[in-house]
Amino acid sequence: MARKLSLAFIILMLLWGAYGLASGGLNLTGLVFEDSNSNGVLDMGEKPLPGVVVSDGEAVTTTDANGSYRIQTDMGRIVFVSAPGTHHAPENKFYTRTESLAKGKDKLDFPLTLNDDTVDNNEFTFVFVTDTHAAAIRNAPEGIRKAYGEVEKLNPAFVIHGGDVILDALKAADEDKVVAQYELYTRQLAPVIKQPFYHTIGNHDVFGWIGLPNPKRPTKLYGKKAYEKYLGPTHYSFNYKHCHFVVLDSIGRTKDPVDGSTYYGVVDKGQLEWLRKDLSQIKASTPVILVTHIPTVNALGSVYGLRGDVVSTPSGEKAPKHQIANFPELFGEVLGNHNLKLALAGHYHTYEAIHWKTNQADALLVVGGSICGEWWKGDRTIGPASWPEGFTVIQVDGEQFKPNYVSYGWKGTEEQ
Ligand SMILES: [Fe+2]
Repeated sequence: MARKLSLAFIILMLLWGAYGLASGGLNLTGLVFEDSNSNGVLDMGEKPLPGVVVSDGEAVTTTDANGSYRIQTDMGRIVFVSAPGTHHAPENKFYTRTESLAKGKDKLDFPLTLNDDTVDNNEFTFVFVTDTHAAAIRNAPEGIRKAYGEVEKLNPAFVIHGGDVILDALKAADEDKVVAQYELYTRQLAPVIKQPFYHTIGNHDVFGWIGLPNPKRPTKLYGKKAYEKYLGPTHYSFNYKHCHFVVLDSIGRTKDPVDGSTYYGVVDKGQLEWLRKDLSQIKASTPVILVTHIPTVNALGSVYGLRGDVVSTPSGEKAPKHQIANFPELFGEVLGNHNLKLALAGHYHTYEAIHWKTNQADALLVVGGSICGEWWKGDRTIGPASWPEGFTVIQVDGEQFKPNYVSYGWKGTEEQ
């Protein structure tokens, strides 16, 4: 009987293994720990970190008392650690693409570094930069070095980028030109900032939706894959001191991807499901900061004669192109029982801060100007209003968030 049972067990395990291989499944385990000597290995005397969230953008798990986690994921996904409020991943290595793991390797550790600011208070300063639109045009690389150099001088706790990192991949048909922009940005420009630097996907970071609307054979970098290759997951979270930051992908694809109406603002169902799980790991009182490229709610669309384009969603409904169409669901059902304090966005290259105060929320909704102004041609101008090239410095003191938009003194040029 015992022999029969053990035979059945072996067959079951073989079938499970075969299923895993066939489906690209990966049963990943690893450690999250404080890597005091920065050698990537948990040494004697180094501290494992319990209760840290690890996710692949769908499943969410936490480390046990030994800093150990286990996650069932798939090849092609990105696994990330949601940094605890006390630590960060050195060199922005908070994520790994499962494809980059050596064949047969099912171990992935996250060595973390203790934050510089270990003072036990609820005060810190961070910087929000957005719409850099990096490319070798005009004097853009010089402008970006200047902007990021000014950010670096402020020595913020960390920096968040609100998307449209590169000039444009959306209208591109030539993958080499897209790769050149991402390479320029990730190798030469982003490293100017030495602090932890978190990125968000923007509509111009998506490859080919307009330039190659319906390719017969999409390349490996088609759509959002280019962004994922160079900048990591399109939705994730991290913590700093008492605050929980959530970065989301707000770029949806319209029903008929033709004549420029290819994208619209939405947070898709998969992300909302992940977000519910992510938020279940924090207290209801924890201040939440939401980051998207396309704004949730903004005032600009209702002034200066701008009405905002309306597009058709995949289900045939009409939706605003330049605001998050399902923000009532996002703010209501998903974030409604949490302490949303700040929402940061880009997209318009303009600056505004709305105080969104309801019975359920008391939050500032900020659209954070742009690094590039009018795409490196000068100040962003709409009707009688204009905004300089700049970034937003945010001072946090407990539940108070004070954003301040500052120019870095760049003068754009009409020349190519
Ligand atoms: Fe932009």
